[in-house]
Amino acid sequence: MIHYQENEKYFHLQSEHSSYLLRILPSGHLAHVYYGSKIASVESIDKIEIRHHIEVGSQVVYDAADKTFSLNNAQLEISTYGKGDFRDPMLHFRLADGTRVTDFHYASHEILANKPHFEGLPETSASENSPCETLKIVMEDAIVGIAVDLYYSIFPAIDVIARRCVIRNGSSPILIEKAMSMNLDFPDHDFQLLSLDGAWIRERHLHSRPLTFGITKIDSKRGVSSSDHNPFLALKRLHTDEEVGECYGFSLLYSGNFEATAEVNPHSLLRILLGINSFDFYWNLSPGEAFVTPEAVLTYSDQGLTRMSQNLHELVKGHIIPSQWRDKDRPILVNNWEATYFDFTEAKLLRLARTAKKLGIELFVLDDGWFGKRNDDNSSLGDWTVNRQKLPSGIAGLAEKIHRIGLDFGLWVEPEMVNPDSDLYRAHPDWAIQLPNRKPSLGRNQLILDLTRPEVGDHLFKMLSELFSSAKISYVKWDMNRSFSDVFSGSLEPKRQGEFFHRYVLGLYSLLERLTARYPEILFESCASGGNRFDLGMLYYMPQTWTSDDTDGIERLFIQYGTSMAYPPSTMGAHVSAVPNMQTLRNTPLETRFNTAIFGLLGYELDLTHCTAFEKNVIKKQIAFYKEHRHLLQFGRFTRLKNPFDGNQCIWMSSSEKGDEALVGVYQLMAKPNGPAEKIPVRGMDPGLHYRVQNRRQYFNLRTFGDLVRHALPIRLSANGTLFNALSNHYLMANETDDLPMEGDLLNRFGFVPKQKFIGSGYTDQIRLMGDFGSRVYHIRAERKLGV
Ligand code: DGJ
Repeated sequence: MIHYQENEKYFHLQSEHSSYLLRILPSGHLAHVYYGSKIASVESIDKIEIRHHIEVGSQVVYDAADKTFSLNNAQLEISTYGKGDFRDPMLHFRLADGTRVTDFHYASHEILANKPHFEGLPETSASENSPCETLKIVMEDAIVGIAVDLYYSIFPAIDVIARRCVIRNGSSPILIEKAMSMNLDFPDHDFQLLSLDGAWIRERHLHSRPLTFGITKIDSKRGVSSSDHNPFLALKRLHTDEEVGECYGFSLLYSGNFEATAEVNPHSLLRILLGINSFDFYWNLSPGEAFVTPEAVLTYSDQGLTRMSQNLHELVKGHIIPSQWRDKDRPILVNNWEATYFDFTEAKLLRLARTAKKLGIELFVLDDGWFGKRNDDNSSLGDWTVNRQKLPSGIAGLAEKIHRIGLDFGLWVEPEMVNPDSDLYRAHPDWAIQLPNRKPSLGRNQLILDLTRPEVGDHLFKMLSELFSSAKISYVKWDMNRSFSDVFSGSLEPKRQGEFFHRYVLGLYSLLERLTARYPEILFESCASGGNRFDLGMLYYMPQTWTSDDTDGIERLFIQYGTSMAYPPSTMGAHVSAVPNMQTLRNTPLETRFNTAIFGLLGYELDLTHCTAFEKNVIKKQIAFYKEHRHLLQFGRFTRLKNPFDGNQCIWMSSSEKGDEALVGVYQLMAKPNGPAEKIPVRGMDPGLHYRVQNRRQYFNLRTFGDLVRHALPIRLSANGTLFNALSNHYLMANETDDLPMEGDLLNRFGFVPKQKFIGSGYTDQIRLMGDFGSRVYHIRAERKLGV
């Protein structure tokens, strides 16, 4: 609900659990007053404004008529530089006469019953059962003729506010040097700042730091949102944890260079800014033109970080990804990349597909290496014609054969790229991003195509449309494997070169808009060397993202845990791959690789034809389990219960909305002998229901035991003997059985006690063998109402 109170000139934006208050000051500036737990009524709003009653030394007095008012001491909703506010501003302009000072005052406002649509950029959208009111406030600097429209749209049920600003230019040309999507000034800085930082194969690790005086900044200058820092940050009170306490989450729907800053000024006011990176950015705005910033989303929780994440998850699932994929189960896939790399033939792929089909897999994805003369990563990006030596029946023929096996067919492309060794580059060297006078630096031997040029977008649209229409393709993996360098576009006049990065993103979005509109039935998965472009902007077009090139089941715990701060499991591609793992050389057990991947979108990415009979049997059972619980795993309410960044364990769970079912994943890093007593926490169960807790049936290979196998089995076997080898290939040794009838209330408050862990003094079928990198999944299902 949005309410305007005329007397005190304040706006109250209310969601189910939060209030956001802003006020028009006597000076005409728009002040931020409050953001936090819901306030029912605000009659004495003037009492919660931090104000001075006497001039503060060394401040710039905004207007001699009121010596107590200085912008540097105000909490603002829109800020500029030059009238006494010395913090980093939200907006900065270079005006036609060379001056840089602007000052915006309230002009008008409207409360809209819906959410206005802006062409060309990703955006959140209301839905039928979740409408969205919008507050539009027009701020004007009448002296220079610029207006700024501030938009606030509320998603009441999930406590989310979407913000953006639109800059409209009046009379003379201006240069926008900085245009943030949001400015939020808190009255104190007693927060820790959480960010998701990392690198290739170590994406979105969770970091937190206390805020103190000065500027804390995360950003990307890579041209993509990047794995250096995700365009997300959270603020939490010092004692806030996953379940208790106040916190705020901020995310940007944008896939290019971004910046997020938290600035604490000498008066302990905290300013949060989020938007397009102002580094290496400017934008020429002619009279009559408008500049629309990307949308930023904010959420508030007074029930800890888990609730903050769940709000963002619901936003992504219900209001960002394409509507046809909302709540729609995603297929279990096999991808040939880590199975074959570039070295495949049609026969090899078909063998892989046949094995996959027998195990229950639903979709076959052909990755890199199917086009041009691409047998390694040195050439052919740009030449999207099939390599007939590898695939004599072409993509259409292969897709047909895959369908006949009983699998859907998916294809990898990396359209934004070109190798210097390609026909496309030889024909259009000017389409590649490079400077006229310098040798370009390469990344993975490739250059980026200049999507600021409409003809490049048109070429890609035509080429991809032909490709996608040429065969039965139901899934596309859209890769992007380098960051930007040597940035210049021959199609932009010198005064527009600073517009390059944003124009590239707009060019990309326009291409994605056209393609996804033309092929709504294709499931697109975005990828950028794994998670180098995992952001809400890409999710607007493509409902899922390849989370990381790191497929090790243990590293993925950290990556998926961090990612879950802002993104739900239904966005995270997660595959079981071979051991030793390609990125870590770690031998994570097959069951743990699976137990991690199922809290995401399950796939297999290994040569299944090389798997032993034991492995195939286990995988078949895994897939059957995932199919049975797929919807809960992909779309359930995700709750973090134990943080792997803090210790030796990771626990998380996914529960149904009604609370009648849940799956809990429990993972340990290193085995500890004779360790502490254990109980597994559970949340969100219905106190009125009675449940049954059962562990998933998992299987050990006898090799786990080596010579100790004689202690685990009633027969005498010596490791490495012929009988042992034969048995270990076929014998599936089951884990312990947990089967606990329990009340919902007890589960919520106490959790449950699993079987005792192996401590070295013997083994029976009542012992929980975890070992290094061990894991379990527990299924909790309501059986009846209490007292029935
Ligand atoms: C990088 C991706 O992240 C991988 O999954 C794979 O598709 C390779 N590119 C192929 O070149």
